[in-house]
Amino acid sequence: MFIMKRYEQLKKLIEHHNDLYHRQDKPEISDYEFDQLFQELLALEKKHPELVTSDSPSFRVGGVVLSGFTKIPHTLPMLSLANSYSAEDLVDFNDRVKKFLKTESEIEFFCEPKFDGLALEIIYENGLLVRAITRGDGTVGEDVTHNVKTISTIPLKLKTDRPPGLLEVRGEVLIFKQDFKTLNEQQQENGENTFANPRNAAAGTIRQLDSKIAASRPLRFFAYGLGMAEGVDFKNHSDVETYLSKVGLPVAIDLVKIAKSADEVIDYYNTINEKRSSLPFDIDGVVIKVNSLKVQEDLGLVARSPRWATAAKFKPEQATTVIEDIQVQVGRTGALTPVAIMKPVRVGGVSVSHATLHNQDEIDRKDVRIGDTVVIQRAGDVIPEIVSVDLSKRKKSSVAFLIPKNCPTCQKPTQKLEEEVVSRCVNSLCPSVFKESLKHFVSRRAMNMEKIGDRLIETLVDQGLVTNYSDLYKLKKTDLLNLDRQGEKSVDNILKSVEISKKTTLARFIYAFGIRFVGEQTAKLLADHYLSLESFLKATPESLIEVPEIGPKVAGSIQAWLENKTLTKQAIEITQLGVSFEAAKRNDSGPLVGKSFLVTGTLPVKRDEAHDLIEKNGGKLLSSVSSKLNFLIVGSDPGSKAQKAESLGVPIISWDDFLKLI
Ligand code: IVH
Repeated sequence: MFIMKRYEQLKKLIEHHNDLYHRQDKPEISDYEFDQLFQELLALEKKHPELVTSDSPSFRVGGVVLSGFTKIPHTLPMLSLANSYSAEDLVDFNDRVKKFLKTESEIEFFCEPKFDGLALEIIYENGLLVRAITRGDGTVGEDVTHNVKTISTIPLKLKTDRPPGLLEVRGEVLIFKQDFKTLNEQQQENGENTFANPRNAAAGTIRQLDSKIAASRPLRFFAYGLGMAEGVDFKNHSDVETYLSKVGLPVAIDLVKIAKSADEVIDYYNTINEKRSSLPFDIDGVVIKVNSLKVQEDLGLVARSPRWATAAKFKPEQATTVIEDIQVQVGRTGALTPVAIMKPVRVGGVSVSHATLHNQDEIDRKDVRIGDTVVIQRAGDVIPEIVSVDLSKRKKSSVAFLIPKNCPTCQKPTQKLEEEVVSRCVNSLCPSVFKESLKHFVSRRAMNMEKIGDRLIETLVDQGLVTNYSDLYKLKKTDLLNLDRQGEKSVDNILKSVEISKKTTLARFIYAFGIRFVGEQTAKLLADHYLSLESFLKATPESLIEVPEIGPKVAGSIQAWLENKTLTKQAIEITQLGVSFEAAKRNDSGPLVGKSFLVTGTLPVKRDEAHDLIEKNGGKLLSSVSSKLNFLIVGSDPGSKAQKAESLGVPIISWDDFLKLI
């Protein structure tokens, strides 16, 4: 009985803090504390799978893997909107509505942004999220509930004591511009494909069979309407959006407006158009809806579009230019990326001269060639992309562009795996791959050699001063002084930054080697698991699989790296050259091994000393009371932790009892 109560309590607490963090942007507890609650919930669910309900926050981390998508019909069709491309068309819309209604009076309109994402329907039954369906063809969509549950701003349970029997919420899934940038950087770092724009990234994510992938990507949602609903009644569309926001759904409330005339609608169009580039997400126009639901009903449909709504799109920020060259860059993972070099042109306020062409498939699809006149735009208002080729301007002599079969840097044959769209240089000695790997090695989140930038890496490799990672630690003042543009002071700074970087952590060091699929988080898990470089280098495939969150794909990649003796030798040599790791705190021998502790109240010794003593004897420190805690050590004036431990049945001991244990 108690367990069930605690489970309900945990679900509530976690969703409450999730809401404070993601929707209200005012967290009340630390990430660490949040994580502790989450871990407790996961542990409970693991022990008592019969407790798990569909609104459990554990769905937010993903884990459901489908073998295919189920098609589900929408109760009410998801319609499309009549499109227009200018503010003037909005005047026509207003006239059409008035004419149909045979009225001279002004109509009230609800104005909102047109989100540039994917339409989605989320169904709540008695307040619980039961299903989420993509728009599909408007009549039948695909069941993407597993992925939608991972979106942290979407409530799994509506915030209301009197939930409606049925509420089909409609809205748009998208990815914010900044998150998109970070996502593409990560994709690149992991040697995965990058996305052309936030919309594609959102589309590719919502249609993943494995919800862990969706959970790892920053999807967002904005609600803008309803499908079928039972047990709620509204007069105006504005009431609908206010209600949706009240029950916890994300609504772009700050950007909507009620307009009372065609002029006000046009003002709205112009205002939002001006704001467009400064918004955190992509919009491609505005949607204007008749506010009264009764009047909406009177107006009805034409074909598959409502007569009561229209979309006025913005003109995309585009420009025309000429492709002067297509260069193929070689990345850290050997991936070959074609980049169009264009005659510089201004788009949306900045000068653009480069645009990635992603891969051969993309080049073929758009049929982009050197010498072509192209229309470009800034995708997501950030990354320039080629939209189309003006074929009328193409010269007869033009030829299709093919990514070379050999690496443009080392000339060795490249490889293209069947399941991948990119070809890769697989020569581990390729200077380009090496330079990019070094840039990663010295980067801020890896070894953090602050004064070694990309330009210096290029020079060091070109001059033969650095031929492997360990050479970075053997740089001499005299060598560096011989380089162009290096004065005494900057050379001292370079050497100092190498010196400072030597004190690091095992996690950073593992991350620095850029093992494929090993990002920062995985590197941390590896460091926590193996504790020393020596034992990491001795990792077996069996032990790698035991590391939390590491699956066969990542383990295989780590194994391949470990088998490369040139690299592992360098890792060891680097530690001999003075790189050291913050002492691993855990001790795997001692009377307290396998036991976890938490201290509360005032003890006869300092808190730090108590912690040291616990860890020195092999014990593990936890930061909050949970069922995972083995002992709570209490001093005088203990607080709520003791009560909680008691209610969870966690043994409570005194400092003297503890000393007896060791
Ligand atoms: S209302 C009758 N509101 O535009 C259709 N749609 O062409 C009612 N969209 O597929 C849709 N932002 O994905 C509505 N604020 C908004 C929207 C919006 C984007 C999309 C939606 C739909 C398409 C309609």
